[in-house]
This record gives sequence, C-alpha cells and structure tokens, in this order.
Amino acid sequence: MSPTTTELRAPIGIFDSGFGGLTVARQIADVLPHEDIAYLGDTARAPYGPRPIAEVRQYALECLDRLVNHGVKALVIACNTASAAVLRDARERYDVPIIEVVLPAARRAAGVTRNGRVGVICTAATATSMAYEDALAASVGITVTTSPCPRFVEFVEAGITAGPEVLAVAREYLQPIKDAGCDTLILGCTHYPLLRGVISYVMGDSVNLVSSASETAQETWRVLNDLHLTTPDQGGSNRLFLTTGDSDRFKGISQRLLGQFVHTAETIHLGRVPKVHR
Ligand code: DGL
Repeated sequence: MSPTTTELRAPIGIFDSGFGGLTVARQIADVLPHEDIAYLGDTARAPYGPRPIAEVRQYALECLDRLVNHGVKALVIACNTASAAVLRDARERYDVPIIEVVLPAARRAAGVTRNGRVGVICTAATATSMAYEDALAASVGITVTTSPCPRFVEFVEAGITAGPEVLAVAREYLQPIKDAGCDTLILGCTHYPLLRGVISYVMGDSVNLVSSASETAQETWRVLNDLHLTTPDQGGSNRLFLTTGDSDRFKGISQRLLGQFVHTAETIHLGRVPKVHR
C-alpha cells in the first residue's frame, strides 16, 4: 500500500548520543531541504563510547522508541557507537527504514583510497566492535588501521574544536594512522567532522577525510527516493531538536559548533543517568 500524504510529511528521525549527529542532520537538511527533521541527542548520557555495549544498546533503543513514537517515517542512527550496538535489533523492532553510518563511510573510503591503506578513528566501543573492519572486509586489498580517540567526543561535547590541548591530543591519536601510511581516513564518529580543522591540519592535505555525516546524508536521500518516501511539500521544513540534557545548554553548544542550525531545543526525560566508568 502506498504511504498517505500525512505519512510522507512525517519527519526523518535522527539520533545520536549528543551533538555529533547534528553533523549528519545538517548534511541531510542540505540534500533534503524540504524534509522535516526530529533530532534526539542523548546528551545527559553521552559519551556512549566508553560504556559497555549492552548499556549503549539499552539507551539507543530508548531513544529510538521515542522517535518512533513521535511518528517518524525513517530513522537515522547518526552514531557509529550506537549503530554497532543496536542496528540488528532496531531493524527487527521498527517498521520504518533504518539508515546507519558505518557502511556508507566504509564504501566511500574503499572507493577513494589509492594505496589501499585506510585509517579509522572512532570511539573505544566502535573500535572494539570491529564494525569498520567488518564493513571493509569485502573490499579486496584494503588494510585497516584503527585508532580510538576517546577524548575527541569530550572536546566536542564541551564545544571545543581548536586550541593547544585539542591539537596535542589529535597529534597523539593520529600518529598510528600516519605511521601506517594511510591515504584515506574515516571519521568513524559523527562528532569528529566538528574537529575536521584540527584533524586535517595534523594529517595534511594529501589524506582524504571521509565523513560519515555526508555519506549518510547521501544514503538517506537514496533510501527515501528508492522507497518513494520523499515529502510532496516544497516549502521550508520544521526541525525539532530534543535533548535529554538541559535545552539551553544544548542550544548554546549547538550554535557554537554549527552556527544557527539549531534555533530551539526541548528537554525530554528518558531513563536514569549512571556514571561513566573509564
Ligand atoms: N557520535 C557518536 C559516534 O558516532 C559517539 C559519541 C559518544 O561517545 O557518545 O560514535
């Protein structure tokens, strides 16, 4: 049965542990400017990266349930860590199409590398899951070097994208990728495009940076088009930003990171907020 006009007008649901998924949301708004967006950042429980995978799974499902109850027509898991933890369950649990971030970025990296040496920077949980190694396993002649960069998310969640501390940390995290001679680097965490300045500065111009944000936006366009789910409207779009943390802080940091993309934010309450054990 074809979807009704009301169903076609439903928003695209986008979820991340915090601010990183906004990089995906912004790219989606660029390629699909007439689509409504409902974004949920679980900022009260970010970072997800250092948490056990079962905990990430539970949080991610709570967030995705909330977006599905809001009536979204597609879900974008704009978080590599959550994708690695929950993708299979989510595809069984929900009727809407689900787009994730790992495969689109892996595909692009395999397509652009010239020397077959691909670097991946990501959270500790994504590194442990081997999600990128698995995604790239089918591409012949590719060697993957992964470097977890746990503090990058902390910098972004604090709105810090430049300065001596972030530069020193970037030099340390990126050294194994440089040593391996990678000509292509996957930003395997949606927070990292916000650190593209420092990452590119350290890696140099000759290394291709592949952002899961722009690749995922392109994948979202493809999925909506192929499933005939694009909105019939050609006017502006409504964007709803939900956070499990403080809404003023969410708005303030988002604007510091992305300019005027987020105009207002609302706080919602999900489960409890346990401490992160590092
Ligand atoms: N943005 C998320 C990702 O792509 C993770 C950030 C976090 O550690 O919460 O993996």
